[in-house]
Amino acid sequence: MPNKAVKTAVFPVAGRGTRFLPVTKASPKEMLPIVDKPLIQYAVDEALSAGADTLVFITGSSKRAIEDHFDSNPELESVLQAQGKEELLATLRGILPSWASCVYIRQSAPLGLGHAVLCARPVVGDAPFMVHLADDLIDAPVPCLKQMAQVFAEYGCSVLGVQTVPKQDTDKYGIVSLERKIAPRIGKIAHIVEKPKPDKAASNLAVVGRYLLTADIFDDLANIGEGAGGEVQLTDGIARLMQRQAVYAFEFEGKRYDCGSKLGYLQATVEYGLKHKSLGTDFARYLKELAVKLDA
Ligand code: G1P
Repeated sequence: MPNKAVKTAVFPVAGRGTRFLPVTKASPKEMLPIVDKPLIQYAVDEALSAGADTLVFITGSSKRAIEDHFDSNPELESVLQAQGKEELLATLRGILPSWASCVYIRQSAPLGLGHAVLCARPVVGDAPFMVHLADDLIDAPVPCLKQMAQVFAEYGCSVLGVQTVPKQDTDKYGIVSLERKIAPRIGKIAHIVEKPKPDKAASNLAVVGRYLLTADIFDDLANIGEGAGGEVQLTDGIARLMQRQAVYAFEFEGKRYDCGSKLGYLQATVEYGLKHKSLGTDFARYLKELAVKLDA
C-alpha cells in the first residue's frame, strides 16, 4: 500500500490584503494577530499537527515579515535570556520545531490562487500535499487538516474542506455539489464552480481554505487559462482533475472564522480572547460589563 502520509503544506500568502488597508500597506495580512499569534502561525501549527514537515510559502512583495517570523532571532533571544524571561524565550523558540523546514517561493505576479499553488510544484514534486488559506481560521477539537489527512489516509483521493454557507453568499466561494455520500461527513463531488451567483449555484456547500490534493492537479493547473475574475482559479484546476480522478468533499468538525473580512476577524479575536489561558477570565468579565452597558 502506498504511503499516505502528507508531508508538504503550501501556504499561498502573496495576496495584497486590500480589504484590510491601511494596516496591510507594509505588512502582510497573514501577520494580523488573533490575540497574540499571527494568522500564519495558526496555519503552520495546523499543518504541522496534520503531519507536514515541509512548509512552502508562496509569497509576494511586502511579505518579508513572514520569513522573519519563522526564522530564529538570536539578538532578541539573547536579550530575553539576559533578562531571565524564560517563558517568553520558550514561546519564541517554540514557533517552529527544528524538524520543520520553510521554503519561500515568489509568485511573480498576482495571477490567482491556482497559479500560486502551481508555483509550489518544484518543491512538492509527485507527492500529495496540503493547501492552507490562512484567512480561514478554523477552531476545531481536532485540527481541520488533521481530520482531512485521516480522510486521505483512508480513501487516497483529493479532499476539500467544505461547510454550508447562507445561499446569498455562494458568490464568495467555490461551490460543490455531490454525486453521492461516501460516509456521514464525506461525499464524492459531482461539480465544482468558482463563485456562482446565488440563483445559479447548484448548492450552498462551500469550499473553505483547506485542500488536500494529489500532485496530478499540477498538470491541470498548468493547462487551464484564466477563470472567474480573470485569474487562474484553483477551483477550475480541481474541476479538471475530477475528470480523471475522484475528489471528495469533507464537512469538517469545527468553527470557521472568515478572517479575510473585518467582522470575521473581530469575531475570531473575541472568541479566541475568551479562550485564552491567561486572559480569558478577565476578558469575559470585561465583555459582561460591556454587554450590560450596551443593554442600558
Ligand atoms: C478562495 C477560493 C474559493 C474558496 C475560498 C475559501 O477564494 O478561490 O474557491 O471558496 O478561497 O476561503 P478567495 O477567498 O481567495 O476569493
